Amino acid sequence: MVELSLPANSTYSDGKTVAAPEGATNIKKFRVYRYDPDSGDNPRIDSFEVDLDKCGPMVLDGLIKIKNEMDSTLTFRRSCREGVCGSCAFNIDGTNTLACTKSISEIDGDIKVFPLPHMPVIKDLVPDLNGPYSQYRSIEPWLQAETPAPNRERLQSPQEREKLDGLWECILCFCCQTSCPSYWWNGDRYLGPAVLLQAYRWIADSRDEAMGKRLDNLNDPFRLYRCHTIMNCTNTCPKNLNPGQAIAEIKSAMLRRA
Ligand code: SF4
Ligand code: SF4
Ligand code: FES
Repeated sequence: MVELSLPANSTYSDGKTVAAPEGATNIKKFRVYRYDPDSGDNPRIDSFEVDLDKCGPMVLDGLIKIKNEMDSTLTFRRSCREGVCGSCAFNIDGTNTLACTKSISEIDGDIKVFPLPHMPVIKDLVPDLNGPYSQYRSIEPWLQAETPAPNRERLQSPQEREKLDGLWECILCFCCQTSCPSYWWNGDRYLGPAVLLQAYRWIADSRDEAMGKRLDNLNDPFRLYRCHTIMNCTNTCPKNLNPGQAIAEIKSAMLRRA
């Protein structure tokens, strides 16, 4: 009989509970993933009872309050607090999203906060994003043109500029990337929806002259064609973008070229 065993540190148990201050009446429990690889211990889920009467409205406000007042060792990324930098992406209540734009009041029951799934964890809610960032680097995300710029700027018509709508807004939060089953299983070779949306952002740019090279770079059974149009990516994007559509556009460009 085949014996299956789980990878090390893949199971977790309940950790500590930090109670709300005495007298608090409007309490919400945050259940937060904790992991410190240096300790050698398995991950745990710590519970924090947050007094919502003394907390901002967003999940990120709760996490910041926990760090400031209940456990300063809690580790997570955040910066802009307005859905622009992409750093506060976690799995919240079972969905990848941004903690700074996810309202506490939208969540029934306890608020469960985990790191983005299927990525190595550096500590607590901080995933190792070196893999997706090196994939991003591989698509050469900058304008490439041999023709000298006619003026100080390379101009676009309003119609050409419109083609970038739905692409330029991507904040590289990797919510889509880490919700994609194809990326879970083949993340070392499949570029994933965030990186492919970014690749299409340059293919669609009328000022860029490297479309042929860009398509050559993507024309691979794994880098592009591991997308099976499951659309988890589009369903989870907190900026309401459509990476699945961008991937379909790249495949169409490949067909037109062939
Ligand atoms: S549509 Fe493609 S990229 Fe998006 S979740 Fe599905 S397989 Fe992944
Ligand atoms: S497409 Fe959406 S979910 Fe994916 S990285 Fe960009 S902003 Fe984040
Ligand atoms: S803190 Fe910048 S997107 Fe949430």
